[in-house]
Amino acid sequence: MPLPISLLHISIVVVLVACSALIHTSRPAITPDQICVSRDLANPIASLFPNNATGVLNATLAIIPIPLETARRLIPLQYGILEHAYRSILPNFPEGMYPVLLQAAHDHDVQLKAFGITLEDFSRIGLEFPFVDLLGDGHSSFRWAPAQLITADHDIALQGSMAYGTKVSPAAFQPPCDAYQRLPSGAPSGAATSFRATSASTGEYAEVQVSRLPAGSAASPYSIEAFKNITNQPTFANASTCDNMIRLFNSSMSRGEYEPVFVRGRVRANVAPLEEAAEWSDVYGVQVATPFVENNYLDCRSMRGYAGTGGGGDSTIDSRSNDNYGL
Ligand SMILES: *[C@@H]1O[C@H](CO)[C@@H](O)[C@H](O)[C@H]1NC(C)=O
Ligand SMILES: *[C@@H]1O[C@H](CO)[C@@H](O)[C@H](O)[C@H]1NC(C)=O
Ligand SMILES: *[C@@H]1O[C@H](CO)[C@@H](O)[C@H](O)[C@H]1NC(C)=O
Ligand SMILES: *[C@@H]1O[C@H](CO)[C@@H](O)[C@H](O)[C@H]1NC(C)=O
Ligand SMILES: *[C@@H]1O[C@H](CO)[C@@H](O)[C@H](O)[C@H]1NC(C)=O
Repeated sequence: MPLPISLLHISIVVVLVACSALIHTSRPAITPDQICVSRDLANPIASLFPNNATGVLNATLAIIPIPLETARRLIPLQYGILEHAYRSILPNFPEGMYPVLLQAAHDHDVQLKAFGITLEDFSRIGLEFPFVDLLGDGHSSFRWAPAQLITADHDIALQGSMAYGTKVSPAAFQPPCDAYQRLPSGAPSGAATSFRATSASTGEYAEVQVSRLPAGSAASPYSIEAFKNITNQPTFANASTCDNMIRLFNSSMSRGEYEPVFVRGRVRANVAPLEEAAEWSDVYGVQVATPFVENNYLDCRSMRGYAGTGGGGDSTIDSRSNDNYGL
């Protein structure tokens, strides 16, 4: 749906502000031991959408079942929870429970190609609450992402997230430049990979350690479609504006050696909006890298019935996209 001019204007202003912040941020010269080299593949869609922010998100996504009553207490009361929507994409999800998304990701090769702009990579982790009825239409699913831990020295990412009203905690990540690190076999936790963030300023932390499930989806309670559905819901924090991040699950990044890997493991976190430290020892998820196009600071009402979550379509970009732009 085309944006009203005024909105378009706002988002252009925001982009320009972000760009000038980028250009004017003088950073000390990088010495070899500071260079953050990521294993992530390059952004394959920057040239396809030169005027849009595009990038790669390499992530561990896990679904944490929590009591629906707890979710009801954490999610602002004015918003309904679309239980019928999550039951339709998560068949057999336990009664009385609600799916929280843990998103632990490395943002790589983010570009605004037409402006010759590339952002430095950054990492972030947070608990996100999908299937929220932000508009009260009983139908359109939004994801509430109230808080994030983000790479501490990345001013653009920190401020870009704060502008949504997100509670942002600058954090140190391990590994610092990748989506996860391999643990030595026989690690005490028994897990194969880990990703951890700790915020010195707020004391918050979050950690995910997982191992691969046997190939194929039979061992996973959740389908790739479910993760695609959840991660393509428009996101908000204080609901002043919404983020439309279109994540492509059928690109070269999800095939062959990069095929999504279903995982199972443990999450430990003490982050907002949790009331206390928590640990979940048996969660299921997926490790997957997706190219994305991001449209920032939209009027949430413009996302009513968004095809990515509510309509008949899916998260793809337009009718051409079933061919995935030849990716
Ligand atoms: C995602 O990150 C992992 C861990 O660094 C890496 O092994 C993998 O190649 C990355 N995937 C893509 C498609 O970049
Ligand atoms: C790219 O940005 C323009 C202007 O904000 C927007 O209208 C368009 O939908 C975006 N493209 C995609 C694929 O999201
Ligand atoms: C949401 O957060 C933004 C950024 O801090 C702020 O400008 C805006 O006033 C807040 N809106 C509401 C409704 O709290
Ligand atoms: C994914 O992409 C491949 C190759 O472009 C295509 O053959 C296949 O139909 C696509 N699958 C879906 C579900 O779009
Ligand atoms: C996501 O799930 C909802 C509820 O079943 C559905 O209406 C919507 O079409 C789905 N979207 C995608 C991208 O699968």
